[in-house]
Order: sequence, then structure tokens, then C-alpha cells
Amino acid sequence: MGTLMIFCFLVSIAINGFAYQNCSFEPPIMGWSSWNTYRVNINEELIKKQADALISNGLKEVGYRYINIDDGFFGYRNSKGVMQTHPERFPNGLKHISEYIHSLGLKAGIYSDAGSNTCGSIWDDDKNGVGSGLYGFEHQDAELYFNDWGFDFIKIDYCGACQELELDEEKRYTEIRKAIDKVAGNHVSINICRWAFPGTWAKNLASSWRISGDISPNWNSVKYIIGKNLYLSAYAGDGHYNDMDMLEIGRGMARNEEEVHFGMWCIMSSPLLIGCDMTNISEQSLELLKNTELIALNQDRLGLQAYVVQHEGEGYVLVKDIEQLRGNVRAVALYNPSDVECKFNVPLEVLELSGKTKIRDLIKRKNIGKTDKALSYTLPGRSVMILRLESEKRIEPCRYEAEWAYLPCFNDLGKKKKPVLYTPMKEASGGMKVINIGGSKENYIEWNNVYSENGGLYEMTVYYCPKSNRKLDVYVNRDKPLTIDMVDDEKEDNNISSVTVQIELKPGYNVIRMGSSYCWAPDIDCFYLKRLSSK
Ligand code: GLA
Repeated sequence: MGTLMIFCFLVSIAINGFAYQNCSFEPPIMGWSSWNTYRVNINEELIKKQADALISNGLKEVGYRYINIDDGFFGYRNSKGVMQTHPERFPNGLKHISEYIHSLGLKAGIYSDAGSNTCGSIWDDDKNGVGSGLYGFEHQDAELYFNDWGFDFIKIDYCGACQELELDEEKRYTEIRKAIDKVAGNHVSINICRWAFPGTWAKNLASSWRISGDISPNWNSVKYIIGKNLYLSAYAGDGHYNDMDMLEIGRGMARNEEEVHFGMWCIMSSPLLIGCDMTNISEQSLELLKNTELIALNQDRLGLQAYVVQHEGEGYVLVKDIEQLRGNVRAVALYNPSDVECKFNVPLEVLELSGKTKIRDLIKRKNIGKTDKALSYTLPGRSVMILRLESEKRIEPCRYEAEWAYLPCFNDLGKKKKPVLYTPMKEASGGMKVINIGGSKENYIEWNNVYSENGGLYEMTVYYCPKSNRKLDVYVNRDKPLTIDMVDDEKEDNNISSVTVQIELKPGYNVIRMGSSYCWAPDIDCFYLKRLSSK
């Protein structure tokens, strides 16, 4: 993976912004994990049976590759501190299991904690989890888990680290990554499990990171996690993903709820780890998990997460490029999280498409028509349509929402007094704005995909929340900033103002950054571009 990433990085420098078209990244991992159904009650026979079932159910053929052993395998550390497996659950050790998994052409995943004690020792009364985490044993455990036992993946939880040791997340996960790289090389795929978006640093350390607390097999849980991920698309990409947690498909939810669950995990490029008993799964759930057209969105070579392009009433419309960056094919989700019917009307230009457009329903695996105007559908409560659109033409975007942008200082750990956040605001376009930008050079908002077909002079109108004594520095392609003095009086909180400036864009991708080094910047809603002339 390391070599591939370096190659991609070089390509991206060479051709400035077109990296995605020239290389493919590691897609989100797909497989099975023991936690959702079995919690700590796992054993050798059970894991082998699940591995066998993954094959016999045809899941390997459609891309599921990992068998992940979650919490529950721990025994005790011997007098030299070497971790032993649970004597009754895994009498033959875990090397034996990983060899079995590998013999089936699959990959093997393991679990630990960044602190001393595992989550199971705290929440599931698994006494063997006490002292079994990585804290103080980083190099020794890495040697055992990856070099000796041969595991390919590790999920690293945080119960012991936050509840007992109060460690700093970035520092702690960096130490662990370094230890693993030193001992085992950088081929090990790491998942950070801190139950919230941990911070932009996670991308340098892990292939994926959990963004929420634990999933459970019910609608409210699925809806909550989707809600948490709706505005995190700027952090996924280049082979790194927001992890929406393991799948609860095949564990008793209604068909429509399972469709939302799987469809949204796919279009948002979450890891896909089945969490049910695969020896006993219904035909209907299995068929959904094996829907290759949905899986293709998840494993798409561009590695992008869909973002919310329209939010009206209860409905959310998400979109992402697939197959080719800025091509004529896009994947779209019409998502109705409410309990009542919702009407969707999505003009094609909102999706940056125009001309005759073919529509394919990927859940039903059927072409469902053509349009040259808009997508118009009424969806029942708790449902989703996942579509593949193929249009005659891709058009230049003119709107850029704050909720699509990258915030280097954003995290969801809840530790900051003035958190930099995407926040709902009824009056804002898309119903969202970004707050607490500015005050230092590092605290900015950035769009790295501002696209101009031919380059040239543009009028840029920035929509923001007026407050007195604010400034906004606007950087175009990291040039000297244009400083806008905001001369607003203090107004009602729910007001949106705008200011228009002229900027020059180059052909292709441009980077627009807004911030303010010395004072707060105003809350940002969005900006619009209008082309004045070509170069
Ligand atoms: C935490 C994680 C879960 C699971 C358990 C194991 O709760 O979030 O996914 O790994 O720990 O104890």
C-alpha cells in the first residue's frame, strides 16, 4: 500500500489535481467481524465456521476478504509480557487461526486497545482484557500480532486510553503507528476506533477511523450514524475512509431499513464488515450484501465519499463521481430518513449534469428511465434510492457549500471550548454553515476542488453570518490573500449577508481557502462563482 500511495502522490504533484484519474487507491476493506453477533464470546471453531461460510455464501467472489477477530481472544501476558490467547476459546492460539484464514485466500484482522485495558474488560466483564491493550507493549505486541501470528489488519480501540489514562489521541495513535511500522513494515491496515471523527491527523496514520459510537441492529442507530457522516466527505479519499461501523444486515431489521443501511454505507465509502452469523443468513439479506452494483460504488477507484448536494424538507440528496473524475457518470442517493413520505425534485444542474440522462436504480438493478430536466420521485419513510446517472454533459459547478469543505482544525472529540464545526442553520444554503474559523493561520476552511473549465476571471460571492469586527482572508491557489474587512453591524443571529469580489482561476482544479490569522472570521455558509471572461 505504501508504494502505491507514494506513486499516487508523485502523479498528483506532476499533473496537479488530476491524481484520481491516473491511479487507484486501496478501497475500503470488506469482510466479516465477530463483534456485532458474538461480542467477547468467540472461539476457534466459530471463527473458522464463519470463514467457511463467507466462502460458501459466495461473498469472497464479490469482494469480501477479511475475517476480523474483535475483542474476546485475550488470555493473559506471561512473565515476559507476551500475550497469550484465551485458553478455552483459542486453545491452539491465533497463529493457527490466521493460517486457516489465509489458506482460504482471505485476510486476517485482529483487535486491541490503545490503552492498557480493552473495552470488553470494562463493558463485558472480560477480565482477561485487563492489561491486554497495547500501552507499554506496542513493539512486543506488534511483533507477535503481525510478524509471528501474521495478521494483516488491526482495529485499535480507545476504552483503556481515555477512561483510565486520559491520553491524547493524536499522540497515542502516532506512537502506535510508529511502533507497528518499525516492527512489521507499513503493510498493516489500521483502524482507529475512537467513536467520533478524531481529527485530520487520522489520515496519516490509519486506513479508516470510526466516526460514531457502536452500531446496533435497529433503525435509529443506522439513521444516527448516517447523520454523523453526512458532512465528513472532505476527510475521506486517497485510500482513507470514515468508518460507519460494522454492518447489522441479517440481524432482524426491515428490508427497507437494510437497503438504507447497505446503500448508504456503499455510497459513503465506509468499510463493509458483515456483522451477522453468516452460517444462518436469510437469502434476502445475503442477496443485498452481494449486490455488485452497490459494492462497485463502495470500491470505486476514485475512492470518494458522496456529499450532500441538496437538503430540502426531510430529504437528503447525495452525489459523488464514480469511474472518472468529472466525467458524465455520477452516483446519487435520494435518502428519506423520516417516517413519512418525502418528495424529491432534483434539477440535473444541481448534480452538475445536463442533456439526456439515463437513470439506473442500483438497489433494484434496473434501468428506470431517462430525463433531461430533473429527478422527481416520491419515497416512503425510511428509504433510499441509489442511482447511477449517465448524462450527455458534465457542467461547470458554480456553488460551493461550507459543509463540503476541509477544516484542518475540525474534530468531533468534544474537547475544544470553541469547536470548529459544521453546524445546522435553517437560513443557510443546504441548512448548514461552518463556525469558529479564524484566529490563527492554521484555522481555515478550504475547497481544493474548485473547478474551472477554461480558467479566467470570476465573480465570487461569499455568503456569511454578519458579526462586527471580523475579517476574511481569501486565498486563491495559496497566493497572497485578498483581505475583506467585514463592516457589518451586529445583527440578528439568523442573518446571512454576502460580499462579492473578483478572482482569477486557472483551468482545471483550484484551491480556495478562507480564514483570518489575527481575528475571528465570520461563520461561512457558501460561495457562488460567476464567470466573467475566459483567459
Ligand atoms: C468498542 C468498539 C466496538 C467493539 C468493542 C469491543 O465498544 O467500539 O466496535 O470493538 O469495543 O469490546
